[in-house]
This record gives sequence, structure tokens and C-alpha cells, in this order.
Amino acid sequence: MISVTVMTETFLDKAYSTGDDSRELYKNWSATYDEEVTGKGYVTPRRVAEALAQFCNDLSTPLLDYGCGTGLSGLAFRAAGFSTLHGIDVSAEMIEKAQEKEAYTTLRHFELENGPPVEAGAYSIIAAVGVIGSGAAPLSLFDTIMDLLAQNGLFSFSFNDHTLEDPSFEAKVTDYTSSGQARLLFKDYGDHLPGIGLKSNVYILKKL
Ligand SMILES: C[S@@+](CC[C@H](N)C(=O)[O-])C[C@H]1O[C@@H](n2cnc3c(N)ncnc32)[C@H](O)[C@@H]1O
Repeated sequence: MISVTVMTETFLDKAYSTGDDSRELYKNWSATYDEEVTGKGYVTPRRVAEALAQFCNDLSTPLLDYGCGTGLSGLAFRAAGFSTLHGIDVSAEMIEKAQEKEAYTTLRHFELENGPPVEAGAYSIIAAVGVIGSGAAPLSLFDTIMDLLAQNGLFSFSFNDHTLEDPSFEAKVTDYTSSGQARLLFKDYGDHLPGIGLKSNVYILKKL
């Protein structure tokens, strides 16, 4: 009898050593991303969504899920009661997977070089779950999102342990709060991928 073992390639180990341009990583990971991260107990989307829901009076307010990936964050926002979700991502392959979940009102892929297909001030809620920092986008995306956000709007995001090792990420948050450009409404350190012992900070900033 011939026995065949099919090895599925895993990507978490590669993710945290990728550079600032992660498009190749997510192109190759899209097919198995959900299985791999849910298998490790990926919980940050639920933590972000539940925290954000506490600060929103109207859960039908459009929410921009920046770096929505395969839509795990969208499912978490839906479960927390958000009903108008717009997802954008630089990976066409990840967006294709998000389409299957039917969690979003709209989904758009965009080319990194062209910038996001969003007008400044169009959203009063923007989330970036697992998007800024180690394994995805550079810190400059933080400023891009704060520029896009409407005044008095909420920006919710997470930094995982690998990202937090670089003090410039937390320093960015402090820059905004100490200069009076934003107020920190929420910050919580908890599980990210408990299956590999990785944690994350979840934040909500209000743009002033
Ligand atoms: C770890 S995944 C997180 C996806 C989803 N938010 C979740 O929680 O499952 C990171 C996502 O960020 C996207 N991404 C990376 N850099 C980006 C950028 N500069 N602009 C928009 N999306 C980006 C990747 O394509 C990928 O889909």
C-alpha cells in the first residue's frame, strides 16, 4: 500500500519576518490563512470588534475594515452587531476569500502604489485588525488612516507582541495623544494567537 502525506505549507513563521511589502506573503497564504490562524485561536478580531461596539451608538454607521484580508475581521464586526462593512485590501487573493463570507456591504482591492480608494473624511469608524506592524503594513499606514478618518471618528487597531518589540509603534500612539490630535479611549493587552502564546494590544483612538 502506498501512503501519501500531503504537507500544507504554513505561513505564520514567515509572516513575522516579512518586510514592509507583504503582498507576496498574502498572495500565497490566502488559501490557508483562515485555517491556520483560527487553528491557533486567532481572537484579536473579536476583541477589537467588541471593544469598538462599546463606543458606537449606531452600529449601522459605515465601518471601513482597512486590510480586511479574508474577512475574519468582518465576521467579528458582524457578530458584534456592525451592519455596514466596507473592506479594502492590497491583496486581491485575500479579498477574493473575503467575498465568500458575505459579511461586507462592499469589498475593494487596490494597488498599494495608487493609495486607498477612500476620500478623506468619508468614514467615522476605521479598523485595522492585524494590519499595522510585523507581518503586514509599515507604521506609515497609521498616519494614512488617521488622515482619512473623519474628525471625532474612531480608529481601532491592534499591535501584536512582535510589533510591540519595536517601540516606535507605541510611540506613534503617544505622539497623537500627547499632541492633542487624538484621545485614547481604550487599550487592552490580551490574547492574539493563544495557540502559539502570542498576545496583542487592542486600541481605540478618537481623532480630535
Ligand atoms: C494579518 S492579515 C489581517 C486580515 C484581517 N484584518 C484579519 O484580522 O484577519 C493582514 C492584511 O493586511 C493587508 N495589508 C498589508 N499591507 C497593507 C496595506 N498597506 N494596505 C492595506 N492592506 C494591507 C494584507 O494584504 C492582509 O490581508
